[in-house]
Amino acid sequence: MKGFLEKLPKVELHLHIEGSLEPELMFELAARNGINLPYKNVEEIRSAYSFNNLQSFLDIYYQGAGVLQKEQDFYDLTWAYLSRISKDNVRHTEIFFDPQTHTERGIAFETVYKGISRALKDGEKQLGISSLLIMCFLRHLSAESAMRTLDDAYEFRDGICAVGLDSSEVGNPPEKFQEVFQKAIEQGYKTVAHAGEEGPPEYIRQALDLLKVQRIDHGVRCLEDKALIERLVKEKIPLTVCPLSNVKLKVFETMSENNLIQLLDAGLKVTLNSDDPAYFGGYMNDNFLAVQEALGLSKEQWIQITENSIEATFLPAEKKAELSKELRNYQ
Ligand code: HPA
Ligand code: ZN
Repeated sequence: MKGFLEKLPKVELHLHIEGSLEPELMFELAARNGINLPYKNVEEIRSAYSFNNLQSFLDIYYQGAGVLQKEQDFYDLTWAYLSRISKDNVRHTEIFFDPQTHTERGIAFETVYKGISRALKDGEKQLGISSLLIMCFLRHLSAESAMRTLDDAYEFRDGICAVGLDSSEVGNPPEKFQEVFQKAIEQGYKTVAHAGEEGPPEYIRQALDLLKVQRIDHGVRCLEDKALIERLVKEKIPLTVCPLSNVKLKVFETMSENNLIQLLDAGLKVTLNSDDPAYFGGYMNDNFLAVQEALGLSKEQWIQITENSIEATFLPAEKKAELSKELRNYQ
């Protein structure tokens, strides 16, 4: 099974590019940009990665992103992620970036966007990994700040496929961003949102009803609400579940307590993803293997999860068909 999972052709749908910043690259960029880090070495950084909840992670994650200054830094970050996932046989990825994490510290939207998108183009050419870009709004900031970010993105909208919502969930419900998502939809973006990671099932409902999302990021707390489960099944709404993240941020105490099997048994469109791999202990294969070790899924379940991911991409039908064919040939 290990070999089968490692070589399985994969699709990743929940990945924050800033969360793929490995301590080694963080040090390199800090030195390049003359920034002093509050850590002596890579080991000290890694040992700081012990979290009690989402917020304790976010505080360190936003601090780490401070080393990203120039277009080339964003290129190097994205290129490092793509090179790493090519080893996990990821064939297509839809990555999040958080413009406000950078514009709030005076880095231009254009600098961030151009570095990331140039690496994505090179990844397609040189590594054969196709990709789409999703711009996330930070929900702890105001709706006005999100609206300004949408305006910043306007000239680059052809290169950004969707908008999303991330950062501190509890106390920042989807309804806060109804207007900005409405405007994003009018401008042709697809929509997704983090909901039901730490927040209640009601936030998942709001994301569907008010933000018109096509996927729910995380969504694992939907199991607390029977009517909501039925709706998600009926409407075939994909959930982008991130198992190592959920254990690191104590959504579940251990991997065996992860509710993945119940989600699958309920008939939900579960997909598996890495979220912030540099902080949570691993990329796609690490997530797949950790789940397999704790929960022992069948080959059929793994194929189902992968098929769900292909179906849940924002790719055109013919590209989805190509990926499905590759998956069928693999079995
Ligand atoms: N949840 C919310 N915000 C985030 C996450 C997450 O898992 N990762 C990066 N920003
Ligand atoms: Zn996330």
